[in-house]
Amino acid sequence: MYHEETKHSHKRYAKSLGYMDWANQANPFRSYQGAAKKILPLAFSYPTPPYHLLFRDKIPTAPLLINSVSQFLQFSMGISAIKSNGVDTWALRCNASSGNLHPSEAYLILPPLEGIGNKTNISHYAPKDHSLEILASIDTDIWNTLPENSFFIALSSIVYREVWKYGERAFRYTQLDAGHAQRAIQISAKALGWKYKLLSNISDKEISKLLGLEQKIRFNENENEIPEMLLLITPEFFNGDIDYSKIINALPFTFDSVANSLAHNYQKWPLISKIEDATYASNTVLEELNYDAHTRDATMESKKVILTRRSAQMMNKHNSEISYEQFLVLLNSTDESFNGFVNAVNLVLFVHNVKNLRAGLYIYLRNEDYKNTLMLQMNTSFLWKKIDENLYVLAYGDYKIISKNISCNQDIASEGAFSMGMLSVFAKQLIEHGEHRYKELYWECGAIGQQLYLEATSLGLSATGIGCYLDDVFHELLGLHTNTFQSLYHFTIGRGLTDKRILTQQPYEERV
Ligand SMILES: Cc1cc2nc3c(=O)[nH]c(=O)nc-3n(C[C@H](O)[C@H](O)[C@H](O)COP(=O)(O)O)c2cc1C
Repeated sequence: MYHEETKHSHKRYAKSLGYMDWANQANPFRSYQGAAKKILPLAFSYPTPPYHLLFRDKIPTAPLLINSVSQFLQFSMGISAIKSNGVDTWALRCNASSGNLHPSEAYLILPPLEGIGNKTNISHYAPKDHSLEILASIDTDIWNTLPENSFFIALSSIVYREVWKYGERAFRYTQLDAGHAQRAIQISAKALGWKYKLLSNISDKEISKLLGLEQKIRFNENENEIPEMLLLITPEFFNGDIDYSKIINALPFTFDSVANSLAHNYQKWPLISKIEDATYASNTVLEELNYDAHTRDATMESKKVILTRRSAQMMNKHNSEISYEQFLVLLNSTDESFNGFVNAVNLVLFVHNVKNLRAGLYIYLRNEDYKNTLMLQMNTSFLWKKIDENLYVLAYGDYKIISKNISCNQDIASEGAFSMGMLSVFAKQLIEHGEHRYKELYWECGAIGQQLYLEATSLGLSATGIGCYLDDVFHELLGLHTNTFQSLYHFTIGRGLTDKRILTQQPYEERV
């Protein structure tokens, strides 16, 4: 019902204020007043492996030190650049976010660590000054049950930051952003040779407890902060049981610090509270998967890729061609199961300008198991001619106008090399796994988006996420009339044009 209600169509966009109430834009930086602050060292000068090596699993494992924790956070959730147009100044971050509104917050649970504290610390990451705000310090023996040098990172969302701009559709954007943040974290872990696992068997309520989010008295009542996911970071893969009660039972009843208020006036959208409640869940159910990394050519240093990732606001339509090899590297980079469950999302591609590939509508199957159902449900006229591993052409032709039209008339969808709709298995997933899967499907799409941004950057190309698209116009084009499959995110890749009027500064300059 939330999903149907928040579709954009030719006749009607999902409900929102309809204009930008600039005076009431929410502060993108959460801080906890009263929390002890640990300023982290800046990691700009730390060496990182070449980007393509991140996917070969042979990166030496970094020890758990304040410097490695600092690098991990700076190159995932930290500020990557300060932009200015002469009037306004704004910060960009390593993790892309719809409208640059950044609803995702990160929290760490660290074992005793020199420079941070001699107890287990639960802290909030404050990207504004690259610091940790210590929320609680406890004694726990949980670390004896985990590989040495393990720690946890959790993500939460402040949906109101997105509601301000996107109204009822905001929850979708928030979840896509959580997926972007998740992948940014995974990539940063890879650069340190660390392994990550999105944890199942923990309820949203337990994540809330760990982060203190259920202590409503510490938060402005209009700025609900919801738990999203918990990841375990380890030096080696770990599959054992985790007894979260070893932390939860050691927590103080209330943490001392209080969350800052982010806005003054609030728009009220009851549908947002309903979907927050409906997807607040028991457990995430995940299966273990193996993934074969594809070969990539040598590329630049990973921190350079991470720090220079940007959204293209305009694509160069006069120089949009990319090579077929680049096209395949981009698609193959999304094969990994980012969430730890069997891939639910396949990519429907509008190919505009890829060398040696006829323009047309294609599909890249990240999960071949869905091929038969897709063939049965999609237009019977589609060709399904195999072009390469997992890649099929559905119809030849010029889809520039159609893709632009579907992407709320945004030129970026037609003026790049190709754009796509991320088509997810839908109804069956929700029935089998419960409402919480609604969020996880968006996380999968967001993670694909972050991966594609980085991959495009590593190839000298540009990308942009597209959250504004006409849902059912796209489904109609494919001949899909039920909710067996739904498109949850659109994306475009090409050669971006930079706006020369916008100045770029190094972040954290006051500290360098
Ligand atoms: C989920 C999501 C949806 C987005 N949708 C659009 C869109 O429809 N149109 C657009 O021009 N940019 C879109 N963007 C790009 C953001 O506006 C951009 O990420 C943000 O301004 C931050 O800039 P950066 O990516 O360069 O860090 C989207 C980004 C994300 C993550």
